[in-house]
Amino acid sequence: MTQDELKDTVAAAAIDEIRPHLARNSVLGIGTGSTANLFIDRLAALRDDFKGAVASSEASAERLRGHDIEVFELNEVGSVPFYIDGADEVNAHLHMIKGGGAALTREKIVAACSERFICIADASKRVTRLGAFPLPVEVIPMARSYVARELVKLGADPVYRQGVVTDNGNQIIDCFDFMIDDPLAMEARLNAIVGVVTNGLFAARGADVLLLGGSNGVERLTPTE
Ligand code: 5RP
Repeated sequence: MTQDELKDTVAAAAIDEIRPHLARNSVLGIGTGSTANLFIDRLAALRDDFKGAVASSEASAERLRGHDIEVFELNEVGSVPFYIDGADEVNAHLHMIKGGGAALTREKIVAACSERFICIADASKRVTRLGAFPLPVEVIPMARSYVARELVKLGADPVYRQGVVTDNGNQIIDCFDFMIDDPLAMEARLNAIVGVVTNGLFAARGADVLLLGGSNGVERLTPTE
């Protein structure tokens, strides 16, 4: 199977996971990226079984609307029963690196408001140690150089993601050569740098369920202690 086919198997598995719990007043949290897009496309068939969605990016909102799924502002909704999203890396604790698509801040906000975070990913995303994928950090533009210098002090090789402006009007620095032994501590440490909006470590609020697509089918994993 190709990587895209594996992504589609986990999108289908996520539909099976949420379908029994959908109610006419349910508003779902929807992530960003190619795996989330496949999930959105499959969700279209269920559009009459739930109320609508909160999106973690303008791109996902547009795709949802294209399928006649109503998109709500998070402030109108409060909490969401499920947040379904992909990841760039995920470990056994279901801590993740996210933000390859530059949507990390809104992803983290919707994830924080979710009762259950379902991560959908192909098997290439599973790692024992986070960090081979460059960790994205969203920064206020005027703080970019300062934040980059602070990231160097922490051992990272920061690279400005040229030409990318987030949905929040900010910029992204990717941290290369930055293996992470304690994701919870590093997430908090990075967020404490003045000018950082969010970083792409999702450890304080990791996933509750990982649907991982591999050559032997979809594995359903929950966090190890
Ligand atoms: C976007 C993300 C995505 O979830 C992550 O990049 C995975 O993307 P894909 O499903 O395309 O592999 O965090 O900001």
